Amino acid sequence: MKFLVYGALNIDLIFSVDHIVIPGETEQCASLEKSSGGKGSNQAAALAKAGMSAHLAGKIGNDGAYLLDMLRSFGVNTDLVSVWEGDTGRALIQLDRNGQNAIVYYPGGNGAVVPEEIEKAIGAFGEGDMLVLQNEIPHIGLMMRKAKERGLAVCLNPSPCDEKIESLPLEMTDIFFVNEIEGASLAGMTGGGGPETILERLVGRFPASEIVLTLGKEGALYGYRNTRESGAILDYPVVDTTGAGDTFTGYFLAARARGFSVKDALALACRAASIAVSRKGALGAIPGAGEVF
Ligand code: RIB
Repeated sequence: MKFLVYGALNIDLIFSVDHIVIPGETEQCASLEKSSGGKGSNQAAALAKAGMSAHLAGKIGNDGAYLLDMLRSFGVNTDLVSVWEGDTGRALIQLDRNGQNAIVYYPGGNGAVVPEEIEKAIGAFGEGDMLVLQNEIPHIGLMMRKAKERGLAVCLNPSPCDEKIESLPLEMTDIFFVNEIEGASLAGMTGGGGPETILERLVGRFPASEIVLTLGKEGALYGYRNTRESGAILDYPVVDTTGAGDTFTGYFLAARARGFSVKDALALACRAASIAVSRKGALGAIPGAGEVF
């Protein structure tokens, strides 16, 4: 089984702040670091580190060449990442003293992916493979349709969640990874109702899809037909939560592909995410298989 992750590669700029600024406020930060991320990069790296055949497709500028070196060193196949004349995507990350973040994202090359590239990339995969998507690149509806035509399973992490999501052929999704905000939005819940309610509504709305609901330090819930499972986060110090959800996604998919039960896959993915939050950065914080399995 091969995984094709079609997604963003970003240069992450981490501004370490005391607190996340409020409107109108200016705050001096303690440090600024150039780091590596993008939801596509992070998920592909987590899959590769977990021992999977992970292929990443996307687009960067010349300023992002170092991302490819890093991804390749983790075992990610980057043959389907093209280089354009513009910038690599940027994520401006405010990281507060509790390890929480707020992110502003500029797509750069990620926003310049075109349908011809999509046809070519997905055309190299088929029955038994999986397409893994997030919402930091355009044309994901087209990608979902092409993937289904070729017999791929589709994994969707609708993050960041925006108005575009409801225009997608969501019923084509085999497995969703959503956080509480994304889950509530897909469940049509504007206020009130806890994680269990979100999960039940999503299982009701998408009866053919597996639902994984990530809950930060509260762990994760899983729902599919009559199956319900949960996983707990381990007690690691929280340094930086950036990319923890991506680490969770990659490790859950890898654990399932390696034959672990849903319950064990949740536990392994929670462990991987717990380790990731104890380290600064996104791509560089993803643990190796030996630390997780
Ligand atoms: O999911 C985390 C990622 O989101 C960061 O690495 C950043 O690039 C943003 O896209």
